[in-house]
Amino acid sequence: MIHAFSRIALVAALSLAAGPLMAQSESGQDKAADSDWVSQTTQTCASCHGKNGVAQTPNFPIIAGQYQDYLLHSLKAYRDGERENAVMAGQVQNMSNDQLEALARYYSRQTDTPLHTPYLDD
Ligand code: HEC
Repeated sequence: MIHAFSRIALVAALSLAAGPLMAQSESGQDKAADSDWVSQTTQTCASCHGKNGVAQTPNFPIIAGQYQDYLLHSLKAYRDGERENAVMAGQVQNMSNDQLEALARYYSRQTDTPLHTPYLDD
């Protein structure tokens, strides 16, 4: 009995420890982040953030036209647990850096948006 229990505890402890490491190795360059992937994935994002990132209710932030590096920073922070939000963490938890970059690029380039982000060098 005791043996069986400590075995379970050990497995649980190991998988807890391995979790963040696996998330790290999954964030490599190997997953597709092409335009097909982006158009499929952004359909999911659209259910909360609206079509092309213009949310229709104040419950969800408008992400269209936001700075690309801000978007990328936020997405990585959700994935890596630095920005704690269960909903968004679930959205991006298995995505690679390339995939997050592709999403950040896509939303930052939307021009039909009420969000105003002036470029300092303009
Ligand atoms: C089920 C609803 C839902 C879905 C689906 C969803 N989001 Fe979000 N998203 C939210 C909420 C709620 C927040 C605000 C969370 C917070 O307070 O940090 C948010 C925040 C964000 C932010 C930070 C915005 C800011 O101004 O700081 C980004 C970027 C983002 N989401 C991108 C995405 C992308 C890309 C997808 C698709 C892969 C996605 N979201 C899917 C609900 C959702």
